[in-house]
Amino acid sequence: MKIDDIKTIAVIGSGTMGRGIAICSAGAGFNTILYDINDEILNNSKNIIEKDLAKSAEKKKITNEKKNEILNKINLTSVIDDLKDADFVIEAALENIELKKEIFTSLDKICRPDTVLTTNTSSLSITTISTFVKTNPERIAGMHFFNPANIMKLVEVVRGDFTSEDTLNLTVALSKKMGKVPVVAKDTPAFIVNRIARPFYGEALKILSEGSSEVEKTDKIMKSCGGFAMGPFELMDLIGIDVNFSVTKSVYEAFFNDPKYRPNFIQKKMVDANLLGRKTKRGFYKYE
Ligand SMILES: NC(=O)c1ccc[n+]([C@@H]2O[C@H](COP(=O)([O-])OP(=O)(O)OC[C@H]3O[C@@H](n4cnc5c(N)ncnc54)[C@H](O)[C@@H]3O)[C@@H](O)[C@H]2O)c1
Repeated sequence: MKIDDIKTIAVIGSGTMGRGIAICSAGAGFNTILYDINDEILNNSKNIIEKDLAKSAEKKKITNEKKNEILNKINLTSVIDDLKDADFVIEAALENIELKKEIFTSLDKICRPDTVLTTNTSSLSITTISTFVKTNPERIAGMHFFNPANIMKLVEVVRGDFTSEDTLNLTVALSKKMGKVPVVAKDTPAFIVNRIARPFYGEALKILSEGSSEVEKTDKIMKSCGGFAMGPFELMDLIGIDVNFSVTKSVYEAFFNDPKYRPNFIQKKMVDANLLGRKTKRGFYKYE
């Protein structure tokens, strides 16, 4: 398949990342199908997308016409069979290998054999995910966006052991068409950026659990002296404490329990208490 053959893109999961990816896809002119497990979740996601785009229009980052064009190009569905006409799929459901197995097994049955199937996983192996697809596993690749997906330019395009050159080139070309800066990465745990970022969160959590510094103080120091746009706690709230915890656990396991990547009890406690960051309006900070 060539880049000009791609007309319809399916995005799986309408959470933090799926919504941003759908905006990128529709913004680049593709018919975009946004799939999630039920209509209530989808309606909530639609409201958030509308608010995000209205804000961008208010700030004159996009015109009102562009806003409406993007909204008109995003079609919501909770019926997985509706993905059968997709030319390219970007999966952005929860970071859980069993769930990804279920989704890719379904896609294998529903989609055409030439439909490229990518995953936005932050840490799971693309090669392992390829094994869930029996027909043409060489059409699987990683397409790792950064949060917020409609703003951040970088996309790690991950080559699994079975990924063909055509799949890789098409994913790179699509990233560019979406206005992104693609970087090809190898299929190693957490690829490039997230692997480097692990100790940023891990050490901040350790410092907090040891009582060496507080949340606000650490964030302030990292921003004012370290030059970071956000401190580690602000960033964890943006990512989602649950997503960050799942990624940390999978990286820790992938490196055979290397203590460098060990998750922190604070993450588990917050997930158990549904303190997931911005998405639940409370994490390390409170949000209105
Ligand atoms: N949050 C980040 O900063 C970030 C950055 C890059 C990559 N990622 C990756 O993107 C993926 C999604 O993360 P997120 O932050 O958007 O999570 P999220 O929790 O915000 O959203 C996940 C969505 O998946 C949906 N879902 C659950 N089961 C599903 C199923 N069977 N089929 C389809 N959808 C289903 C949920 O209803 C939810 O809407 C993960 O793999 C994560 O590692 C996250």
